[in-house]
Amino acid sequence: MKIALACDHGGLDLKHAIINYLKENGYEYEDFGTYSHESCDYPDYAKLAARAVVNRECDLGILVCGTGIGIGIAANKIKGVRCALCNDVFSAKATRAHNDANMMSIGQRVIGEGHALEIVAAFLNGKFEGDRHIQRIEKMMALEEE
Ligand code: RB5
Repeated sequence: MKIALACDHGGLDLKHAIINYLKENGYEYEDFGTYSHESCDYPDYAKLAARAVVNRECDLGILVCGTGIGIGIAANKIKGVRCALCNDVFSAKATRAHNDANMMSIGQRVIGEGHALEIVAAFLNGKFEGDRHIQRIEKMMALEEE
């Protein structure tokens, strides 16, 4: 499984920890930046990772900023993205199971690294339940056409 990664300056350190987790657990990944602590604008990086997921160059995406909020909102502007803010394990598991989320965002300034990596693991190991959730996702994605 290949994971698209992106962050802003507020999420760089946690992104590095996530990269280590991915390497240790046999995931492929592509890092779309940012690559330094210099202040930057999260939409510039969110869109690169989001496009890679929508184009199926990557299977899932993980985005990091200070809160996880801005970078996730930006990713959700790209057609086909379902990016969920996951600052807890339950949400990470549930959004794969119910929303078939193809990206998650997380906030480096919100939670500690250990918790963050458990959240990432829950997201990556999550399974879509299908069934009644399919029509809800179809309706949600149809909103992109309105
Ligand atoms: C950057 O200072 C910060 O605003 C950003 O990382 C993020 O938290 C925005 O939602």
